[in-house]
Amino acid sequence: MTEQPTVTNPELHEYPMKRGCPYHPPTEYAELAEQGPLSEVRLFDGSTAWLVTQHTEARAMFADAAMFSSDHDNPAFPILAEREKNFPEFTQELFGLDGDRHKARRRMLLPRFTAKQVERLRPMIQRMADELIDELLELEAPVDLIAVLGRPLPSRVICRMLGISYEEHELFEVHAQGIMQAPDLEQAVAAGQELLDYLVQVVDAKQKNLGDDLLSTLITDRLNTGELTSIEVSKLMVALLIGGQETTTSMIGLGTLTLLQHPDQLAEIRENPELLPGAVEELMRFLSIADLTTLRVATADVEVAGRTIKEGDGVILSTAAANRDAAVFDDADTFDIHRDTQGHLGFGHGPHRCLGENLARAELEILFGTLFKRIPTLRLAVPMDEVSMKVGMTLEGLHDLPVTW
Ligand code: HEM
Repeated sequence: MTEQPTVTNPELHEYPMKRGCPYHPPTEYAELAEQGPLSEVRLFDGSTAWLVTQHTEARAMFADAAMFSSDHDNPAFPILAEREKNFPEFTQELFGLDGDRHKARRRMLLPRFTAKQVERLRPMIQRMADELIDELLELEAPVDLIAVLGRPLPSRVICRMLGISYEEHELFEVHAQGIMQAPDLEQAVAAGQELLDYLVQVVDAKQKNLGDDLLSTLITDRLNTGELTSIEVSKLMVALLIGGQETTTSMIGLGTLTLLQHPDQLAEIRENPELLPGAVEELMRFLSIADLTTLRVATADVEVAGRTIKEGDGVILSTAAANRDAAVFDDADTFDIHRDTQGHLGFGHGPHRCLGENLARAELEILFGTLFKRIPTLRLAVPMDEVSMKVGMTLEGLHDLPVTW
């Protein structure tokens, strides 16, 4: 047991709170939001942080990266669990940076993630989704949808973008999962180091076999020019893996569950695939699976909504709470594929806004569209209350999703 610092206010809610239902935020969020946009909460080590629960404040704080920093090297940067203590080591090439260095790194990757570039990837993603669904249909029901579709699709897509062989995708999946789901710090560190060592070898091998892919571009334009070292290139790849793998897997699992639980809307989507982009956007708002990842540290004393945030205070910008803010989204707790989701914070906002948002949208639209068209009888193979939710992990999601058809 680590020693707990003295807690000054025993009345504070402990954070993170648990979701009671896989697709609804903890009920405490709404109670806290009613008291005002900012609440103090207590973290696992006894320290406190500000939980931001209303949309206007959260959005403004996301945008103000100078005041609310993402610098993971700042010793005051909040962490939500012991095992996250070492995350900075593996993520500091993007998520954990501020200012010019962050901008420069982002610019190196951005051209491959624009809406136009991602549009060109759609046929490839469609092929992969079809192949995986062919494989699923060969299996005997019930099957775990997360294992057969949720994990392989995003990892195959990102491997193809990076220019990494299909055979290696399984190693990627195992390592990315190892980091995100490690039960303790030691195992997270080991998984992260293993992934990094492996990627450095991948970069070396790629040097001899350049092609038209993201890794080759990074090698030609950044590594060979001396701008980045091979460790730095590897860390950028880790950022893409961490950013793009488990997130999309979670959305596939929880998204499928949510659609199955709303059969009328699912029937509409099946009949009219043009509704898919709106449905995916609503799933992003409704599920807010990255709720526990959007953390910041204040760089100076600042007043927000009548509360004083001190320099060094931890700040949690709750996308799940903000996305259920009734002042912005009517009937916010209802899943409605026809609603106007504009301004939702499911991909964050401001300088750190999700780099892979267009790719995520394309993967989700293609996967849901194809899955429910090709297997119209798809349904849960267990009662809803037996669906196993992840608890105490960095992303909201499901351990598995048994389905039949
Ligand atoms: C549906 C799945 C996804 C969700 C819910 C999601 C969510 C988010 C959120 C909320 C952020 C902002 C973090 C912050 O402000 O601190 C973010 C950043 C990021 N995401 Fe995603 N993401 C998804 C898919 C992807 C994909 C497919 C990729 C790439 C392959 C990706 C790569 C990244 C990267 C690199 C960042 C860091 C950007 C920066 O710091 O400048 N994400 N994501």
